[in-house]
Amino acid sequence: MFKGALFDLDGVIADTAVFHFAAWKNLVKKHFNADLPDELEEKTKGISREDSLHVILNYLNIQVSDEEFRALASEKNEAYVEALNVLNPNYILPGITSFISDLKSNHVKIALASASKNGPLILKKLGLSDAFDAIADPAKVAAGKPAPDIFLAAAKSLNLDPKDCIGVEDAVAGVSAINASGATSIAVGGVELSQATKRFNNTSELNFKEVLSAWQSNMALER
Ligand code: BG6
Ligand code: MG
Repeated sequence: MFKGALFDLDGVIADTAVFHFAAWKNLVKKHFNADLPDELEEKTKGISREDSLHVILNYLNIQVSDEEFRALASEKNEAYVEALNVLNPNYILPGITSFISDLKSNHVKIALASASKNGPLILKKLGLSDAFDAIADPAKVAAGKPAPDIFLAAAKSLNLDPKDCIGVEDAVAGVSAINASGATSIAVGGVELSQATKRFNNTSELNFKEVLSAWQSNMALER
């Protein structure tokens, strides 16, 4: 049996991914009178606020000073945090509450492995703070997803070997990060996430038994 579950937050526990991209779209419209195509969203998923802003500015082919960069990142975050005001436990994605409860009945420890610095605030608004045994701090890891650092930190926060953990992700960069950490990757989303050990189309399909058997086959491959 695996002993830990390392969760991404945005797009896995709550549908906050849409708030992130909406905040970027509004910012870009206001400052540069430009529109961001929906296809760019995947490239901003799972990576830090600053890395997302780099992706967006590169796409727009716009250069800004360091000072302007910091101001843009902070204005986006203010708008995002404002948008989060509506969050309540109804925003927990379908299937997540029962999946967490199956993990708990199987004595699996739970940690957050999100790139978001707003993780603790969001868990609180969702009423999930007590469900988590630990929250890995993205400000303290050297490299963001797709590097494994945040998943390694999350496993460590539970005193577990990453091999004894599963990681749950909705982003390509996040699945790569889990795979690089040695944990078993569980994806929720489309075929772009096929490099995961096990993929479900969405969170409502998450199923403890299938996750366990994915972890078991992954461990059998290791031997
Ligand atoms: C990730 C999101 O979870 O958190 C990214 O998928 C986001 O889109 C990143 O950029 C950082 O979030 P925050 O809340 O610290 O700006
Ligand atoms: Mg995510």
